[in-house]
Amino acid sequence: MTAVFAPVVVGASADLVVGEGRAYAVAERQIAVFRMTDGSLRAADAVCPHNGGPLADGQFDPVAVVCPLHQYAFRFADGGCATEGIGAVSVYEAADREGEIVVWC
Ligand code: FES
Repeated sequence: MTAVFAPVVVGASADLVVGEGRAYAVAERQIAVFRMTDGSLRAADAVCPHNGGPLADGQFDPVAVVCPLHQYAFRFADGGCATEGIGAVSVYEAADREGEIVVWC
């Protein structure tokens, strides 16, 4: 079965400044959205699969986010972790649309 992704507005674009990550509640999930220095967005599950760390509070660049608790990194491209056995997060497409942040999930 193929997953169907629907666009969901999670908040105002102006509330997420460059260099910031923020967690949003989407249905029964927590999704972290990050604004890159070029203004683009990345999105991933907000809860670290290792031990529940808050990924929205982690350091990030366009390639990956680093969990603030034990510093495991998760790639935005596929959600995978560079360290084997840690698990993976789901990643999502995210974009600004008419002043709002939209996540496809
Ligand atoms: S809880 Fe995220 S790396 Fe441990």
